Parts: sequence; C-alpha cells; structure tokens
Amino acid sequence: MSTIDDLGRLTLRPIGDDHPRPHSSSPYEDWGQMADEARSVKHRRWLVELTTGTGEVLPVGDLSAHEVWHGPTPGSRCMNIGISIAEEFRGQGVGGVAQALLAASLHSEGFVRVEASTDVTNVAEQRALVKAGFAYEGTLRSAQARRDGRHDLQLWSHVSGIDS
Ligand SMILES: CC(C)(COP(=O)(O)OP(=O)(O)OC[C@H]1O[C@@H](n2cnc3c(N)ncnc32)[C@H](O)[C@@H]1OP(=O)(O)O)[C@@H](O)C(=O)NCCC(=O)NCCS
Repeated sequence: MSTIDDLGRLTLRPIGDDHPRPHSSSPYEDWGQMADEARSVKHRRWLVELTTGTGEVLPVGDLSAHEVWHGPTPGSRCMNIGISIAEEFRGQGVGGVAQALLAASLHSEGFVRVEASTDVTNVAEQRALVKAGFAYEGTLRSAQARRDGRHDLQLWSHVSGIDS
C-alpha cells in the first residue's frame, strides 16, 4: 500500500489471466502478429487499485510478471515485470509507485532480482522506473519486433538489498 498526494491509496490485487483489466492503449503494445509460443509463457497479473478519499476503489492499471532464468540454479530465477496504466491516470505518479510496490512484493517472495524492459523511446516508463528505484543496465539491441518493425529496448533492474 502506498499513498499518492491528492489521488489516494494504491494497492495491488492479484488477478487471473481472464480478469478484466482497465482499458489502456499504447504505441508500445501494438504487437501485430503474435507468436503461439509466446502465448504459452505464464504471466502473473495484478490490478492496480486506487482507493480515493471517499472510499471508492478504482482499477487504474495492471501489472504482469513472468520468470526469466539466468542460469539453472534456483537463485538464477528473476521476474520481468510489465505495466499498463489507464490513460486518464497517467502522469500522476501511479506508474512509479505501482512498480515500486510490485518490486517490494516480489523481493518479499524471495526474488532477489526484478527486471523491467522498455522501449528506448518510452521516456514516461523510464522516468517511472527511476521513481520506482530501478537502475538502468543497458540496451538490448533489436530485441523486440512489433507491427512497425524492430526496436531496441532498455533493460532496468531492482535488486533487493541494493536498491531502495
Ligand atoms: C509508462 C507508464 C506505465 C508510466 O506510468 P505513469 O503513471 O504515467 O508514470 P508516472 O506518473 O509515475 O511518471 C511518468 C513520468 O514520465 C513523464 N512523462 C510522461 N510522458 C512523457 C513523455 N511523453 N516524454 C517525457 N516524459 C514523459 C512524466 O512527466 C513523469 O515524469 P516526472 O516524474 O519527472 O514528472 C504509463 O504512462 C503507461 O501505462 N503508458 C502506456 C503503456 C506503457 O508504455 N507501458 C510500459 C511498457 S514497457
């Protein structure tokens, strides 16, 4: 739980794949043809809920996380997270706080490393990751193909015991 001035209290609620998620559109999620193999990757999901001063609970976005293995040992497993905030709630600090909450929650489950990757031109997400305490690590060249072609991604991480 975390409070954002003038908005309210933010909490994360685990949801299943089929649970409705707030509408959100983004040029960074215009995928084009999806790969069948990618559909089989298991994603955990959370709703980002805002409790306003009047006690109303609004779904304002959603988060996801999937496992990435950097070696065959249990300690080499990390989580890569993704985020989408409804348009009318963007630019008010929700994205930064929500990703900080998810990183803390995954650390408390025992994941030492939490990753996030984002397009090199997605300045809003890069700013939100800085506010969430993530550190920039480098560029994943030509890592993602979307409808309009190939794109470089930035890799960021939040490491328990190192990042706040
Ligand atoms: C990216 C996203 C998650 C950020 O969440 P948010 O709630 O808007 O983020 P915050 O309010 O915490 O921070 C946004 C920051 O980016 C800045 N920003 C917003 N749009 C920007 C733009 N086009 N160019 C530069 N900076 C921008 C804001 O000013 C703010 O910076 P500040 O703290 O210095 O004022 C949200 O905008 C979103 O869902 N976008 C569409 C989906 C997406 O891109 N997801 C990430 C895919 S990896």
